[in-house]
Amino acid sequence: MPLDLTILVGTMTGKAQLVAQELELLLDDGDTCVRTQLMDGLDADVFARGGLFLVCTSTYGQGDVPDNARALYESLIATRPDLSNVHYGVVALGDRTYQDTFCNGGRRFDAILAELGAKRIGEILFHDASGGTLPEEAATEWVGPWFQLVRERSALAA
Ligand SMILES: Cc1cc2nc3c(=O)[nH]c(=O)nc-3n(C[C@H](O)[C@H](O)[C@H](O)COP(=O)(O)O)c2cc1C
Repeated sequence: MPLDLTILVGTMTGKAQLVAQELELLLDDGDTCVRTQLMDGLDADVFARGGLFLVCTSTYGQGDVPDNARALYESLIATRPDLSNVHYGVVALGDRTYQDTFCNGGRRFDAILAELGAKRIGEILFHDASGGTLPEEAATEWVGPWFQLVRERSALAA
């Protein structure tokens, strides 16, 4: 069965966007339709139709979501929609130099989505910018097993 995946990108300097582009190139084929959207200008309505999402976001400030993700994040908190028809994964970009807030942008999205009833598939990918690996490389390794879990879930649901 064909799958639709929406990748939502929260980014300040473009690394998360690069990750999303690589993942779209990898996953978008006849069986899977991938749409990548920057979070700019989005609010909680982006989840209204349910489905499968990948939140790909970095962390800024003191463990905050990036500026372009703030409206979406705050809209989820303010409007608290029922997201029980949403499945999602998280790719969280950060830097372990920020010990206390490592990858908090991704963690924040994970926490609010779960609180609103969305179901996470698989573990979060935490990428450490000071760890010597490129985020797009880490993400392309991570996404194979993640997508396998997605396929297993959708086969069960069919
Ligand atoms: C001013 C500034 C603040 C940051 N704050 C955090 C932070 O609190 N926690 C964290 O894990 N990473 C933090 N980072 C690291 C970024 O999240 C990381 O470099 C990421 O790969 C950037 O991705 P982007 O280009 O998609 O925004 C910070 C980076 C900068 C420049």
